[in-house]
Amino acid sequence: MTVGIVGLGYVGLPLAREFYNGGASVLGFDINSASVKMINQGKSPIKHIQGKLIASMAKSDRFEATGDMSRLSEPDAILIAVPTPLTENREPDMTYVVATCEAISQFLRKGQLVVLESTTYPGTTRELMLPILERSGLKAGRDFYLAYSPEREDPGNKDFSTATIPKVVGGFDKASLKKAIEVYEVAIETLVPVSSCEIAEAAKILENTYRCINIAMVNELKMLFDRMDIDVWEVIRAASTKPFGYNAFYPGPGLGGHCIPIDPFYLTWKARQYGLATRFIELAGEINTDMPHFVVEKVMDALNDKRKSLNGAKILVLGLAYKPDIDDVRESPSLELIELLQKKGAKVDYNDPYLPQTHKQRDYDLNMKSKKLTEKTMQKYDLVIIATNHSDYDYDWIVKHAKLVIDTRNATSNVKQGRRKIVKA
Ligand SMILES: NC(=O)c1ccc[n+]([C@@H]2O[C@H](COP(=O)([O-])OP(=O)(O)OC[C@H]3O[C@@H](n4cnc5c(N)ncnc54)[C@H](O)[C@@H]3O)[C@@H](O)[C@H]2O)c1
Repeated sequence: MTVGIVGLGYVGLPLAREFYNGGASVLGFDINSASVKMINQGKSPIKHIQGKLIASMAKSDRFEATGDMSRLSEPDAILIAVPTPLTENREPDMTYVVATCEAISQFLRKGQLVVLESTTYPGTTRELMLPILERSGLKAGRDFYLAYSPEREDPGNKDFSTATIPKVVGGFDKASLKKAIEVYEVAIETLVPVSSCEIAEAAKILENTYRCINIAMVNELKMLFDRMDIDVWEVIRAASTKPFGYNAFYPGPGLGGHCIPIDPFYLTWKARQYGLATRFIELAGEINTDMPHFVVEKVMDALNDKRKSLNGAKILVLGLAYKPDIDDVRESPSLELIELLQKKGAKVDYNDPYLPQTHKQRDYDLNMKSKKLTEKTMQKYDLVIIATNHSDYDYDWIVKHAKLVIDTRNATSNVKQGRRKIVKA
């Protein structure tokens, strides 16, 4: 079996790896020619995905990356893992999915299976993809198979991989579901068939909305408990001992990544077509996007206690990635934090072992380079903010050599010496 994977990013590349490991031939498609070149040279464009495996895949005759979309007729199944961001008006930006379907429809042949893996609003497969794919002259259910199977990839998660995370699959019809299950069985240990594409689409949005809302709730409690001088982290630790009915979520400097800050708003957009407002989602969005401002306030208070102002203060932000041990900065609250601090006149640097320099983002163009962490550099800063709790960091060392530490992740919980320098935020 040959599996085509469109979009060789955080989702597509691990998916390619699992199909390759399962014995399938994999043809990867990407419009980013630099990425295609790197992968074919056996190098991983994503830091936490091991180059070793990409190297062995690239050497094998069962794997190839290409930018040539005319080869979309080659695979038996085409799995789509392209971005689904929001537009500037915070509406679904479906341009990548549309462009991919347009390319597929030019080369679609009888008997192929097409599956969307990208996160999206319920209805996408049937309302948006189907008409484009049928421009090929082929009919879904008769000439080709169509399904939706959301990706649950969790970059950097050491306990679960793409192969071991159960995968929900919804088909356009019964035959499509059967075909999709046959294909995924090659790579994924546990499959969860559901009755339609819409159920699978909605399940993914439910998962991410659930996280978004629960994180907002603990972020709100963090601000309240801070005023009450109660340590929210210890509260969560205590509540987590309840063996049923409670799942721990953790506060932070804001929401980041390609999923949680974005996906729920796909549903908000869709809900408007049905005359409903998704009030929980809106409220959670408001609280979560406000968190970097809370951190800035805590920074100002901490400096104030030292008779210093934020204006002119030298600040080092530790961690640019939106979560530990990965190199992904999409929607990272660290970027917002840096911008807010700069606007108030602080001189800000950052360190991130995964990100030697910043790259231009849609909303940010910081043009900064990661500073080396040495005793001497630490002395230069009035204050250090732990924004991402990378496990590479030695938190005892950080607290020892920093003048003041703002800890947004409870990363210093085990640090014994110098605790009076730590402010949780
Ligand atoms: N990153 C995650 O942890 C994660 C987890 C679950 C779901 N998702 C979802 O999976 C989807 C992909 O996310 P990602 O993080 O892998 O994105 P990504 O940006 O890392 O990768 C997407 C890739 O698609 C390529 N691409 C864009 N348009 C293309 C086209 N027309 N043809 C071929 N290639 C094209 C890009 O060049 C890029 O390499 C999104 O919908 C996202 O919400 C992501």
